[in-house]
Amino acid sequence: MTIATITIHQPRRLIVGAGTIGEVGSWAGDAARTLVVATPFTAGFVDRLRLPGTVTVFDAIPGEPDIAIFDAAIEAARRTNPDLVVGVGGGSVLDVAKLVAALWNSDQTLSDVAGPNRVAGRSTRLAQVATTAGTGSEAGIRSLITDPGKGNKIAVESPHLIADLAVLDPELTFSLPPAVTAATGIDAMAHCVEAFTNRRAHPMIDDFARMGFRLVGRYLARAVRDGSDTEAREGLMLASYYGGVCLGPVNTAAGHAIAYPLGTLLHLPHGLANAIVFPHVLAFNQPAVPAKTAEVAEALGFGQELSQRDLLGSAHAFCAGLGVEMSLSAHGATEPDLRRYAEDAHAIRRLMDNNPRDMSVDDVFGIYKAAF
Ligand SMILES: [Fe+2]
Repeated sequence: MTIATITIHQPRRLIVGAGTIGEVGSWAGDAARTLVVATPFTAGFVDRLRLPGTVTVFDAIPGEPDIAIFDAAIEAARRTNPDLVVGVGGGSVLDVAKLVAALWNSDQTLSDVAGPNRVAGRSTRLAQVATTAGTGSEAGIRSLITDPGKGNKIAVESPHLIADLAVLDPELTFSLPPAVTAATGIDAMAHCVEAFTNRRAHPMIDDFARMGFRLVGRYLARAVRDGSDTEAREGLMLASYYGGVCLGPVNTAAGHAIAYPLGTLLHLPHGLANAIVFPHVLAFNQPAVPAKTAEVAEALGFGQELSQRDLLGSAHAFCAGLGVEMSLSAHGATEPDLRRYAEDAHAIRRLMDNNPRDMSVDDVFGIYKAAF
């Protein structure tokens, strides 16, 4: 069998290590006007960037950015006329920053660029500074914006969305609460595992995925216990980055499809939604990808040759043991909601078609019920 061809995009420059946020300023050189995209919380890191020139901060990014927030960020950029856009935050911020850098001075609208390879170009430099270890958005070429009218996500994918500079500074994640650390770490792992067990899996991406889920197995519990464990925090930032590399050429599968309605309709944070879904999809897929599932189970310390039921139990205990509330009803879901979630998730074919085992609407419904 020949190996499928693959194209991998990575940031032009990647800086990793404690305290490296301060290197953004010297990299920025003679930038006269910079727009920083942030949240009210991550705006507190802006001084540490040591940026030259005039710095404008747009800090209105919520947990799930939607079209209105994106439009507001574009307006802020048009007022700023930036030479440089810097995203400082988690996936929501970084996703908006990459689109703003490409589109603020373009004729294209968000709907013009939805889908793969429709962004015409980008003339503004882009630096991405991650402040969570989960999405890996700083690594990649994809951006997701919620369309509240349709209750789904607009996915834009383009090589023009890649960062000129990405910074992984573990000190920026020290203050993340344990619950956020746990959920975002599981999200990073889910990117790796869903790419690893994917129908479109590729040997090169498999090795990025292995690095990622092994780091999560080694470090996530440590970082949840002690938020300022620099070694554990740095390990998780790398895992998140590797997950981001996996997303570009291979992407996720059923796990993320099933998590999405929990974000768009139930308004759960993305990492939490994925943590709740993760054990169920891992176990569901085991018969289709037994050897790879066994590798994941070993990396997470679950033991060997587990039955589907024991695998589900171990993965559930892993997530719950990190402090994640794994019950959908505890998060406000009601049983009549589950059918709508299942239909919506099943309709996300761009991810569902990647899954190693076919899932019917009833299979998806069964997962929500099991997680209820
Ligand atoms: Fe994710």
